[in-house]
Amino acid sequence: MGGVLQLPKPMPKPVTNVMDQTITSVSREHRIFRPSAEFQRQANLGSLSAYKKLYEESVNSPEKFWRREAESHLVWRKRFTDVLKWTPPHAKWFTGGRLNIAENCLDRHLGTARENKAAIIFEGEPGDVRTITYRQLLFHVSRLAHVFENLGLNAGDRVAIYLPMVPEAIVAMLACARIGAVHTVVFGGFSPEALKARINDCKARLVITADGGWRRGKIVELKANVDKALEGAPSVQTVLVLRRCRNEVSMRDGRDIWWHEAWEGGPNIHKAKAFDSEHPLFILYTSGSTGKPKGVLHTSAGFLLGAKMTAQHVFDLKENDRYFCSADIGWITGHSYVVYGLLSNGATVFIYEGAPNHPEPDRFWRMIDRHGLTILYTAPTAIRAFMRWGDNYVLRHRLDSLRLLGSVGEPINPEAWMWYHTMIGKKRCPIVDTWWQTETGAIMITPLPGATPLKPGSATLPFFGVVPKVVDSLGHEVPRGTGGKLVITRPWPSMLRTLWGEDDRYKRGYWGEFPGHEDYYFTGDGARQDKDGYFWIVGRIDDVLNISGHRLGTAEVESALVSHPAVAEAAAVGKPDDLKGQSLVVFVTLKAGIPPGDALKEELRAHVAGEIGAMARPDQIRFAAGLPKTRSGKIMRRILKEIATGGEVRGDTTTLEDFSVVASLQAEE
Ligand code: PRX
Repeated sequence: MGGVLQLPKPMPKPVTNVMDQTITSVSREHRIFRPSAEFQRQANLGSLSAYKKLYEESVNSPEKFWRREAESHLVWRKRFTDVLKWTPPHAKWFTGGRLNIAENCLDRHLGTARENKAAIIFEGEPGDVRTITYRQLLFHVSRLAHVFENLGLNAGDRVAIYLPMVPEAIVAMLACARIGAVHTVVFGGFSPEALKARINDCKARLVITADGGWRRGKIVELKANVDKALEGAPSVQTVLVLRRCRNEVSMRDGRDIWWHEAWEGGPNIHKAKAFDSEHPLFILYTSGSTGKPKGVLHTSAGFLLGAKMTAQHVFDLKENDRYFCSADIGWITGHSYVVYGLLSNGATVFIYEGAPNHPEPDRFWRMIDRHGLTILYTAPTAIRAFMRWGDNYVLRHRLDSLRLLGSVGEPINPEAWMWYHTMIGKKRCPIVDTWWQTETGAIMITPLPGATPLKPGSATLPFFGVVPKVVDSLGHEVPRGTGGKLVITRPWPSMLRTLWGEDDRYKRGYWGEFPGHEDYYFTGDGARQDKDGYFWIVGRIDDVLNISGHRLGTAEVESALVSHPAVAEAAAVGKPDDLKGQSLVVFVTLKAGIPPGDALKEELRAHVAGEIGAMARPDQIRFAAGLPKTRSGKIMRRILKEIATGGEVRGDTTTLEDFSVVASLQAEE
């Protein structure tokens, strides 16, 4: 692995001296931006050699490295005995140890200078602001933990959280962690159907929701969605409802209770129990290549260690930082880099409830100035939207509090990187392009801002303890500069432990890709390494799409479509899109006698949004007499992709059953 760390000797120009050239493709991207001396001086890790030294230790003496890090970063009630028990593909980290995750995020800061420091600064979409200190956050979490216990909730019980991006969402997660209940946060943009499927899969006993949340000046009716979902979810005994928008909701006797009523009068002191290092912390559903979402299971100590260490190093956290991550807590980014990784470090986290362009497209910049935010972590799709909305919205604001920028969720194209760097970062702020996944729990490939020279479009080098490789279909490492499949060849503390109730799917889906290499974790991504060992992520190479930074399975969309009575068969593909990264194009064959038409297209779009959520609404629907298939009946997505992109159908079509299908598809529209 040492080779990954070889970097070009003469280090090119500093940040302020940018070559002015237009880059259209990452394969022609040669610019390098070194951290400025000023940033390096104040950084937690201020040189490439310091990174290399620690990295080498982490992969050459992992036992020693992880023991030390786990002992120093986490508050243990009982010390662990073994660092790792690894029987591929099952890992147990820090066995024998006991700890409480909420205590690691809250109680540890009390009695220190952080006690009255802001843990959360919240701005609602209407402009309401709340600041919650660490002491206050512990007070809220303790009381809610009592509410949970009074409801009879036990360690290991599942709790579904379906809330807007408000402080109570964080309180709810931490209160679960405090009593050892397993949370599954469902993004508020998911439909009742999607919510129901997730509740049923993990058999949640409690659902926590709100009357509504604000989005572009309108109320998203979360409680009404829960009511619909619960028509078919018998495991749920109680619904705890937060009052946020004061919209009217119906409360069912014996099942639904108001948060503020349940919360009244209880004790403020909650003695947290200690749980095993491997006690389940949360399940987070994500899209896979088959129709059913995967319940990624993360456990306690390893997850928290990964989230905490990466947050500290990647965001170069300082006591005075005010950190803003624009992800919703319904995604892994919210779990690791709004809640656990940041609060365990005692950081101040800024959260925002609503849309980035409400009431105007400068909302983020206004909030950065208003609150003096120092770090911004967002997605390339948002950056491209800001670019499109125009520089004038940015230039009205100072943005002088910012010192570091981050990117996550999809490859960032060099044009967006440069805009982010010059327009938002004023050429002063390093950009950390962080590659990771729901499954990895924490950032895996990333620059460390005081150490790593940046190349726009590259996630650069692995984090401590992470050993990625780019391999061919047999699992052999490919030469530098050659594309291949991205794998992680060693276990890491924040890795997923299994898929909830589907251990076989876990084994097959992540560890079965390369016969003879059953200890290689397959990421589903394509990548290449350049001559300096830098990783360039190409994107998904399985049947998973990345639309505006959201993962969506083609099979999920297809099964939503075929559940409509007019549809016989459907195939979903991604089409490159300047704004969203990929847009969603679906090919549909209708049942005999059903006439195609625009009204039906609209109906099908709404149907998919209703089955999954608005983020899955197809951008384009194309009716087809038939879909191209292999002789064995498999839909040839590659061909559909070429048709969707408007290109000629090239490549091998010899296995195609009936070429006339392709000809008629191309003739359409
Ligand atoms: O394809 C990669 C892309 O997002 C996928 C993971 O999606 P999800 O589990 O929803 O987690 C997103 C937030 C961590 C990956 O397989 N991806 C994520 N970050 C990057 C990325 N692609 C390129 N560059 C990144 N920085």
